[in-house]
Amino acid sequence: NNMIDYKNNKPFVEGVAIEDIAASYPTPLYIYSQKKIEDKYKKLKNAFNAEIFYAVKANSNQAIIKLMSRLGAGADVVSVGELERAIMAGVNPKKIIFEGIGKTNKDIAFAISNNIRLINVESIDEIQRINKVAKENNKNVDIGIRLNPNIDGQTIDKISTGKKTDKFGIDTDKLQEIFQALENAKYVNLIGISCHVGSQIFNIKVFSEIFIKMKTNAQLFLDKGYLIKHVDLGGGIGVTYRDKDDELDLELIKLELDKCFENVPYQLSFEPGRYLVANAGILVTSVVTIKNNGGINFLITDAGMHSLIRPALYQAHHDIEVVDKSNSELITYSVAGPICESSDILDKNITLPKQKVGNLLLIKDTGAYGKVMASNYNSRGLPVEILVNNNFFQKIHQPLTSQEFIKQDIIPEWLD
Ligand code: LLP
Repeated sequence: NNMIDYKNNKPFVEGVAIEDIAASYPTPLYIYSQKKIEDKYKKLKNAFNAEIFYAVKANSNQAIIKLMSRLGAGADVVSVGELERAIMAGVNPKKIIFEGIGKTNKDIAFAISNNIRLINVESIDEIQRINKVAKENNKNVDIGIRLNPNIDGQTIDKISTGKKTDKFGIDTDKLQEIFQALENAKYVNLIGISCHVGSQIFNIKVFSEIFIKMKTNAQLFLDKGYLIKHVDLGGGIGVTYRDKDDELDLELIKLELDKCFENVPYQLSFEPGRYLVANAGILVTSVVTIKNNGGINFLITDAGMHSLIRPALYQAHHDIEVVDKSNSELITYSVAGPICESSDILDKNITLPKQKVGNLLLIKDTGAYGKVMASNYNSRGLPVEILVNNNFFQKIHQPLTSQEFIKQDIIPEWLD
């Protein structure tokens, strides 16, 4: 699971010393391992006989999208911005799927003008609106239907997406309404169905339930005469966030997959984000100050909820490793960011070798939903991003300076 190697007790990523990167760029900074991403992609691709559409939302850096595309992945995008990112990174539009629950007519028109593979619709109204926009543009548009299969992904509540009461997809009880809407939408061709029941799925029974429900639904569409060419089984493949945990066994998912979809007349696909990038990234931060409050030893770092919001938002765990292990005295620390909010805690009660101000800490498994969810809260800068590839490293994102982002505000004349 680990992208970090040790030589003489010093951490390296693909032959590059993390300390060398931190000496070249200010912390906090994200480091990604290209090799780790390649390995994860190949592992997934080899395990499943299915197309992979990378869920760009997990890490939408141009370099990462380009890498995925070079590996052979398509892109799963959920906004015009992500669609633009995929196109600008050179993804073939015929390998782009446009998802998302709140597409405006303008978004739809943009997707249509780029001739992408398909638009996955999430409501009956959207079928009607795509038809209208397609007609205005005198085009036929391929669509998929994202179904809500009413499955509990058994993940944390805030990232559940596949239950009936979640806002996503169209309820599978509404198939008659879908058929009716499709009947009336002459500029729309239904070519696929999809689902996504949540993120961080570990239970093989959940995958099996998804597969069975999607197969049943695909058959209902086929029986009705729709030429279903793609069945998209979503993302959500779980990753480990603790080095001591066992990885999800893809072979077990494959067994269910093969058992369920034997000799089906359509192509299967997945749209994973986290699985491909989470374990391929770390957030490097410096200890800014050390203090004891009420008996708690705080290491205050320059990374915080503005650089990585997952711990504050979802109480998500990320292993934290120290670079300086020289002190044999062990201390129980809480690691907290510099943001003026009590929720800005990266981890509590972890035992680490005694630390000094200026030391580097590594917040692990932050390649997915890390930088993409970072913000300028407290008017702090976003982290630099670095890609490491076989002894080389290169900056792949230069954030705006505070001067630059402050200048994006406009003071009206009447306040001048
Ligand atoms: N497809 C759809 C339609 C999705 O909504 C998502 C994620 C994915 C694919 C990719 O799921 P993955 O393979 O990455 O699990 N910010 C949260 C995760 C939110 C996931 C949203 N949808 C986190 O930091 O855990």
